[in-house]
Amino acid sequence: MKIILTKNYEELSKKAAEILAEVVKTKPNGVLGLATGSTPIGTYKELIEIYKKGEIDFSNINTVNLDEYRGIEKSNDQSYDYFMNDNLFSHVNIKKENTDLPDGSNPDADGECARYEAKIESLGGIDIQLLGIGHNGHIGFNEPADHFAPKTHCVKLDQITIDANARFFASAADVPKEAYTMGIGTIMSAKKVLLVATGEDKAEILLQTVKGTVTPAVQSSILQFHHDVTIVGDEKSLSKIMAEYPELISK
Ligand code: F6R
Repeated sequence: MKIILTKNYEELSKKAAEILAEVVKTKPNGVLGLATGSTPIGTYKELIEIYKKGEIDFSNINTVNLDEYRGIEKSNDQSYDYFMNDNLFSHVNIKKENTDLPDGSNPDADGECARYEAKIESLGGIDIQLLGIGHNGHIGFNEPADHFAPKTHCVKLDQITIDANARFFASAADVPKEAYTMGIGTIMSAKKVLLVATGEDKAEILLQTVKGTVTPAVQSSILQFHHDVTIVGDEKSLSKIMAEYPELISK
């Protein structure tokens, strides 16, 4: 695991965007696995800047996203589909038909999850998967559990996740209670994983992710078994790893 320490959110976003841009440059028909949430917003801004400089071309890139709320239309401004258009797709020359997310408006959970998993397989798998991390160690919407889910599936969101996401909705009661998410197996099949984290409140879970017991109670801990993971964090999110395992950090 490579852990890159950056000074602040801006530097973190630049570094993460550079890593994604490198994949786009080296494999112009590659598959990017993308994430929503607050943390990657800066990464997408920086990636758009790199695109505007003419350094990268998205015309043959495909993307798939980690997850989507269930029971929400694409046009809803809280859907992850909307988020991706707003924060990335509408600013670069990606073909809309080359982008895919689980379809939250499809009530057939088994059918939608099977379609999505088959789609990822038909693209030849994910070249780089971008991840944020929840306070409980969730990646995608793989919440603490007694097992690691192998494939895309439908989940009930934990109250901690509903509360954390309530800031985007009128109230916690309006946050959808279910989501479709890639499984841990889907994420672990990506050739590279890039995890971004910012802020003091992520310091403990990052420490557990990197050095804790590998357990489905902390789903992100499975990343210890992936052969190509890079974590890019700011000083606050990496503070506990820096204090306990400074030798793990690259600058
Ligand atoms: C988003 C996702 C989630 C977030 C996580 C962290 O697609 O799958 O796992 O990455 O909840 O969210 P932020 O970045 O808002 O702290």
